[in-house]
Amino acid sequence: MSDKLKVLFLSSEAVPYAKTGGLADVAGSLPLALKKLGIDIRLVLPLYSMVRKGNFPIRPLIENLEVPLGMEMFKANILETRADTGLPVYLIERDDLYDRPNLYGNSMGDYYDNLERFTFFTHAALCIIQAISFKPDLIHCNDWQTGLIPALIKGPYHNNPFIREIPAVFTIHNLGYQGIFPSEKLSVTGLLKEKFFHPEGIEFWKKISLLKAGIIYSEAITTVSPTYAKEIQTSEYGMGMDGILHHRRAFLYGILNGVDYKLWNPETDTHIPAHYSLENIGGKAQCKESLIKEMGLKLSLKTRPVLGMTTRLDTQKGLDLFVEILNDILNLDVGLVILGSGDEDILQDKIRAAAEKHPGLVGLKIGFDESIAHRIMAGVDIFLIPSRYEPCGLTQMYALKYGTIPVVRATGGLEDTIIPFDIQSGEGNGFKFGHYKPEALFKAVQDAVELFQNSNAWEKIRENGMKADFSWNRSARAYLEIYQSLVRD
Ligand code: ADP
Ligand code: GLC
Repeated sequence: MSDKLKVLFLSSEAVPYAKTGGLADVAGSLPLALKKLGIDIRLVLPLYSMVRKGNFPIRPLIENLEVPLGMEMFKANILETRADTGLPVYLIERDDLYDRPNLYGNSMGDYYDNLERFTFFTHAALCIIQAISFKPDLIHCNDWQTGLIPALIKGPYHNNPFIREIPAVFTIHNLGYQGIFPSEKLSVTGLLKEKFFHPEGIEFWKKISLLKAGIIYSEAITTVSPTYAKEIQTSEYGMGMDGILHHRRAFLYGILNGVDYKLWNPETDTHIPAHYSLENIGGKAQCKESLIKEMGLKLSLKTRPVLGMTTRLDTQKGLDLFVEILNDILNLDVGLVILGSGDEDILQDKIRAAAEKHPGLVGLKIGFDESIAHRIMAGVDIFLIPSRYEPCGLTQMYALKYGTIPVVRATGGLEDTIIPFDIQSGEGNGFKFGHYKPEALFKAVQDAVELFQNSNAWEKIRENGMKADFSWNRSARAYLEIYQSLVRD
C-alpha cells in the first residue's frame, strides 16, 4: 500500500471543465500543485452540460451508484476523466440535476433546486469513497456547494467505516454566497434537526446555511488570502458570519491563491495574437493593436493608455463606483475595454451610454468568454479591480504577468498582492486606493494614466510586475502543512 497522503477535493467548478469565476481557476490548478508535492489527490465535479461540451475523454467508472437524497435513494453514474499529469476527476452524472445551460442559475435567479443539486453532489462524493474503496485521509471542500460534507461525516455517515472521522478542510472563496435555503427543506440534507439545526449548527437566522455547515463542522477553515482571513472576522466584511469565524479563529488560515502559469503566461498563451516576455516585450504592442481593432476602438489609442476590466457583473466588484466616474475617466482620452458576465442591466446601460458619448473609446462585451479574457489581459495597459471586497482576486496577478498595471482597491488579496508604485525608489507593482469612494478610484486611475506618459517609470513598474512569482509552490505547501497537521491529530 502506498503511504501517500490521500485527499478527495470537491469543487462545484474547475478549469478546464466548468467555470464561472476564480473558484474554477483554483480548483483546476491547486490539486495539480498538491499532486506534485506527492499527494494522491482526486477531484469530484458534477457532470454539467458545460463539461460534456468540452469533449474530454471520459470513461464510465461506476454504474448506478445508489445515493441518498432526503428519504429516498437515487441512482447516479460516475464517470472518470484525467486532468493533466493523470489526476483523476470523478464526474457525477445525473442529468435531471446537472444537464442545464448554466451552473447555478439563469437570469431569473438561482435554480429552484440548488439545495437538492448540491446535497446530491456531496452525498454522491461520499458514496464514491465507499464504492471505489478510496478512503481519503481528508476531504477538501470549497464554498457552500460542498459545505455539507463535514456535517454529513458527523451526522448520517458517522457509523460508516469508510467515512467516519475523516477530517474536512473547508475553503471559503467568497463569503458573499452562503447557500441559504428554507428550514422546511432540512430533510433533503439528511441531517437530523435536533443535532444540526440550531444556532451553533447550520441554522442561520432560522434558515439553513450550507456555508455555515462548512464553517462549523470542518476541522480546518481556510480562506484565500491572509487579509481576507482577518477581514471576515469583522462586521464590515463578515456578512453575518463574523461572530462564528472569530470564534473559530484558531482553526482559520489565510492562504493566498496561486497562478497557473501554464495557462496564464504571455510567452505561451494560445489565445493571444503575439507572444512576449519581459526581455522581448514587442508582442505586447501587437496584442494591444489587435485588441483595439477587435473591440472597434479608434487606432489613435495605440499611444494612449487602454484600460481593461474582466469581471462578473456583481456588486462585489465595485462597478457602482466605476460607473460614477466613467465619463471622467474617458475625458482623460483613454480607451476602455470591458468584458462582463451577469445580468446587471443598469450597469450595462450606463456603460453603453458612456460609449455613445465617447465614440471609439469604449469596447463592451457582455458574456463569459475565456479567450477574450486572455486577449484583454495582454492587450490593455491598465487593469481595473475596484472591488468592494475581494477574497483573493486572480486577475491582478494575471495582469502583473502580462505587463498590465493593476489599479485595485486595498482589500483582501488585492491588498496582499499589490504594492503601490513609488517613483523615487522604483519599487511597487500597481496603484491602490483605500476608501470605497468614486473620487479615490478616480485618483488612482489618474495616477496610473499619468505614469503611463513617463516611459522609464512605466518600464520599471511593468518589470516589477512581470518578475513577480505568484505560482502555487508556496501556497500548496501551506495547504500540505494543514493537511498533515489534521491527519496527525
Ligand atoms: P471571482 O472569482 O470573484 O470572479 P477572481 O479574480 O478570483 O474573481 O477570478 C475571476 C476569473 O474569472 C478570472 O479567471 C477571470 O479572467 C475570469 N472571468 C471573470 N469574468 C469573466 C468573463 N466575463 N469572461 C471570461 N472570464 C471571466
Ligand atoms: C472567489 C473570490 C475571488 C477569489 C476566487 C478564488 O470567487 O471572489 O476573490 O480569487 O474565489 O479563490
